[in-house]
This record gives sequence, C-alpha cells and structure tokens, in this order.
Amino acid sequence: MSLLITNGRIITASDDYVADVYCHDGVITAIGAGLPAHRFQAERTIDAAGRYVMPGGIDVHTHLDMPFGGTTSSDDFETGTVAAAFGGTTSLVDFAIQYRGQSMRHAFDEWMKKAAGKAVIDYSFHMIVTELPDAALGDMDRLVRDEGITSFKLFMAYPGVFMVDDATIFRALRRTGENGGLVCMHAENGGVIDVLVQEALRRGQKAPKYHALTRPSRAEAEATGRAIALSEMAGVPIYIVHLSAADALEKVRQARDMGLPAYAETCPQYLFLSYDNYEEPGFDGAKYVMSPPLREKWHQDVLWKGLAKNDLQVISTDHCPFCMGEQKVLGKDDFSRIPNGAPGIETRLTLVHDGGVRQKRISLNRFVEVCSTTPAKMFGLFPRKGTVAVGSDADLVVFDPKKKQTLGVTTLHMRVDYNPYEGTVVEGSPAFVVSGGKVIVENDTFVGKKGAGRFVKRGPSQAPAGL
Ligand code: URP
Ligand code: ZN
Ligand code: ZN
Repeated sequence: MSLLITNGRIITASDDYVADVYCHDGVITAIGAGLPAHRFQAERTIDAAGRYVMPGGIDVHTHLDMPFGGTTSSDDFETGTVAAAFGGTTSLVDFAIQYRGQSMRHAFDEWMKKAAGKAVIDYSFHMIVTELPDAALGDMDRLVRDEGITSFKLFMAYPGVFMVDDATIFRALRRTGENGGLVCMHAENGGVIDVLVQEALRRGQKAPKYHALTRPSRAEAEATGRAIALSEMAGVPIYIVHLSAADALEKVRQARDMGLPAYAETCPQYLFLSYDNYEEPGFDGAKYVMSPPLREKWHQDVLWKGLAKNDLQVISTDHCPFCMGEQKVLGKDDFSRIPNGAPGIETRLTLVHDGGVRQKRISLNRFVEVCSTTPAKMFGLFPRKGTVAVGSDADLVVFDPKKKQTLGVTTLHMRVDYNPYEGTVVEGSPAFVVSGGKVIVENDTFVGKKGAGRFVKRGPSQAPAGL
C-alpha cells in the first residue's frame, strides 16, 4: 500500500514547512517539496493544502476494559481505539494490572488478550505493580527485556486496592535503574485522603463534590514531592502521572531546577474543567469524579504555563470512562463508591489545539511535542513514532485547523453516556487519520479494521538523557 500526502504543512516538534510525504508499506519513505515520481506510484493521494500534517497523537495514559470500583471501564480495546482514531490518536499505552497474588506475567497475558484482535491502532502497556516481593523483581526485568514493557505504574493512593508503601516504591525505582524501566507514579497521599473520606462520610457528606473536598491538592503535592525524593535517593528518573495542581507542579519544577530527572504529564480535564463542575445540580458532579480531582480554576493557568515552559512535558488523557446510567450511579448515596475516571481519549488533540494553540498558550510545535513527540521519547517509541521523518511509522494526522466540531455524546464515538465537554465548540480537527500507512478515518467516518492495531515492543525511555 502506498500513500502520498501532498502540499501539507508538516508540523513536528521542531519543524514547520510545506512538503509532500510518501508512505510505503506502513513507513514514511520520502519527504520533499514536490515528489513528482511518487505521484505516479502512489495508490492513493490526499491533498493536504491548507492543513497540517502531524505525527499521530500518542496517548500514554488510557484505561480500556479496566475492572475498577466494582465495574469495568465502558470502552474496550475496539470502541476505545476507534474513538482514539477519530480524535487523531494513532498509538496508546494502556495499563495492565498485576493484582495482588498474581504475577506481572499473568497481567501482561490478560491485557494482551483484551487488546488482540480488537485494537484498531498500535498499542502497548505499562504494568501496574501492586506488590513486589523479591521473587518478582526479576519479572520486572523480563517484561522490560522480552516484551518491551518498559514502564511501571505505582500508586501512593487507593489504600487496600492499589496503594504500595514507600519501601516498595523505592525497590521498584532502584530496579528500574538496573533494567532500564521507568516508574510512573500516581502521587496522592492515600492515607491522609482515607481519613478525610471517612470523616466526611461520618458527617453525612455523601454528594459527589466531597470526592474533591477530601482530596486536597496538598495531598497530591506531598506525594509528588515524596515520589521525587524517593527517585532521587534511588538515582533514577520518575514520571508523575495526571498532575492536576499548582502545588504539585511546584514540586516538579523545583526538582527540575535542581537538575533532577523528574517529569510529569497533565490531562485536558485539568486544563479545561474545574471544581465548579462538582457543583452541577443533582448527581451530575459524579461525571467528574476522578483522581486527582478537578481543582479550582486558577490552577489551569499555572498548568498551561508549566506546559509552555517544559515544567510539564506530556498531555495524556487518563481516559477511564464509566456511564452515569449504570456505573457512576453505584455511588449515588456515597461519593467514595463512584467509580473514578472520565472519558477523554477522543478529545485531546482538538481541545489542546483549540485551548492551547488558538488561545496562544502554546505554539503549534509545542502542541505536537506534548501530544506526540515527548510521549514517544518518554516511553521508548521514538523515532519509530512521534515524528514525521523518513523511516518512521506512517502514523499521521492531516489536521484541519479551521474544521469546527461540537463536542458531545452524539457527535463523538466513546462508549459512554455523557461527555464532560458537552456542547463545547472547538476549532481544529483531524480531516484524515493514517495508521501504518492506511487511512483509518476520513469524512468523519471510520474506515480502518478491527484488530489492525499492533502490539509494539517499546525500548527504554529517553528520560535519562533529559527531556
Ligand atoms: O480517576 C482516575 N484517574 N481513574 C483511573 C485510575 C487512575 O488512577 O489513573
Ligand atoms: Zn492514577
Ligand atoms: Zn489513570
């Protein structure tokens, strides 16, 4: 299969120029200002004049088909990756979960089964580690070496479910220093939060907003600082996931100013939504129950500045959808039983382009960098993915900066019965999405194939070299 994309404005993390891109057998094989010979060879030509040709989005934080809070996230690897594709994301890194008493190998096999034959875009997994006896340390090494699972998520929150103690975190961090892996941290002080939750429930404070009011930003900042200190003692990089708050970001900024390899991602929900959403009438606040919770609006500005200045390196989605109808309702009378998470796999590029690039908070190059290039570098996918270059996978988005889209349940494709951005109009949307050299979205229609997505063995993170 060969594809020629002509006259587009090629945008990478560092470049911005007009050229043609030729893709053959899933790989970019030529880029040039007018590729006359290729015009005769190409089986398909797309005219991208007036549009951007960007590397496909890479979402390094999704939860598809994930059992959690007594239910399972409502998108599986088919529906979730189709939605991702509509939004211009062509690779994702989901989370496999090693439950207590089970091996990481078992978790890896289970998640491979969930994705195989379903995913429509390429994928990999991070491994969530919930216990790490000495005997399991070798399993970490084997995942890195044999399967390209080069990152591990640990939790400082959710006591009794995912939370691990500092000793476990320290041992995992040290091991990544030997095997080349990278630890991703859910940084919230689970012990403090648990006390606040129990107190609130005893006082009869059971509405969704108490989810936010029992998870103060200080609990996130404390855990972020502690996680960075543990990584410093272990002498390895660390990556903080779903950072939501200014005081947590301050910990990352201070560490980076000291020259420590501390990295963090934020997510669109923390850039566009706020605590005010929990005050929506009735049970609607449950739509936004996620951890960390949405913060007061002023934090948004600090996060945007952090993105612009590279205190924050990545925007992922933490896509973890639960329907209001049958799932969020589990916590109708007790906010602590509301499944944590919200949908977002489809809306990342459009929101960040509209609110970031159009509002002049970040440049077009930075948009590509935080949504594709740095995620690829951070998680061992670069230069195969995350850029437009000869030899890279032909995972591309032809992005129309003028194409308007109204975000909402009926216009989007995620399998969930609400959208946190319902009715929001964004300017700038994918016109064509190409995965492995094949067009998979065009004319707002999915034309890809179930199961065409490939598991990708990742290499080591490029974080140690500095990002
Ligand atoms: O509320 C969230 N973030 N749900 C997904 C699980 C996690 O902690 O990332
Ligand atoms: Zn988390
Ligand atoms: Zn998550």
